[in-house]
Amino acid sequence: AQQKLEYKARIKQLLKEKDAVLIAHYYTDPEIQALAEETGGCVADSLEMARFGNNHPAKTLIIAGVRFMGETAKILAPSKRIIMPALDATCSLDLGCPVEAFSAFCDAHPDHTVVVYANTSAAVKARADWIVTSSIALDVVEHLDSDGQKIIWGPDRHLGAWIEKQTGAKMVRWQGACIVHDEFKASALKRLKEENPDAAILVHPESPADVIELADAVGSTSQLIKAAKELPQQKLIVATDKGIFFKMQQACPEKEMIAAPTGGNGASCRSCAMCPWMGMNGLQTIEDSLVNDEGHEIFVDEEIRLKALIPLERMLNFNV
Ligand code: 13P
Ligand code: SF4
Repeated sequence: AQQKLEYKARIKQLLKEKDAVLIAHYYTDPEIQALAEETGGCVADSLEMARFGNNHPAKTLIIAGVRFMGETAKILAPSKRIIMPALDATCSLDLGCPVEAFSAFCDAHPDHTVVVYANTSAAVKARADWIVTSSIALDVVEHLDSDGQKIIWGPDRHLGAWIEKQTGAKMVRWQGACIVHDEFKASALKRLKEENPDAAILVHPESPADVIELADAVGSTSQLIKAAKELPQQKLIVATDKGIFFKMQQACPEKEMIAAPTGGNGASCRSCAMCPWMGMNGLQTIEDSLVNDEGHEIFVDEEIRLKALIPLERMLNFNV
């Protein structure tokens, strides 16, 4: 405990000295989320992280999240230094969507508008017409579909399938998945709901279709936190990374929260539903990234950056 206090004190000092601000995702360790808030940074979903970093006057952004979030920050604000506590923190969606194969996929459908989920590399973003996060994906696809555009969607297959169902759009879909959300099991969730008939089910749309089917609320991390507060039920079963419980519990302290099961046997384990890459962020790695900032800086090739900036700005300027 003493060591944690020391880390926090040093991080606060270093943030000031380096004109840096800490921006954390809802899936990071609660201690990091609390520290980001306490030091004037933010805790947010991936869309709000991008907006906050872009608008904040600090010269340096410390991105506690995964690599695509750091790259997005750099694409939007090239004159800022973007530091990541865990440079190796990737995402299975990013890993499962290499740029060469994705480009060939797009080339095979030249008359399609390419809509790419933010959980991808800068190079894949550079191939996109639109970038979306889960907060805005539905609205963007609805807009493009009603405009009569043919759409390529990548890389998350579950999010893509859910969007198709909601909007009626027919998209050519890449078949990637999030290793965390892909583990939620509908059969076990059904049993849990039978044991807790008064509970509402909240699901992130990176989860399988049969899990989403059981949900009372489906949405991005920020949308799920909002739903947790607004739903009338006092008990909530939550299917997303457990890091979200920190802000969710803050939003509605009186409610009881239960992690959705990830195994077929109804048991939910401690290490399940936790993104291993988000977990690479810790107080120690944050402090280290501030001290040895050169080894933690994110760079994006300028040609790629300029191409990726176009669809990213399209997203930020899209009015829901
Ligand atoms: P959000 O945009 O909902 O925060 O999702 C990011 C993510 O990585 C979900 O797994
Ligand atoms: Fe990627 Fe899934 Fe981790 Fe989110 S939770 S960063 S989608 S692997």
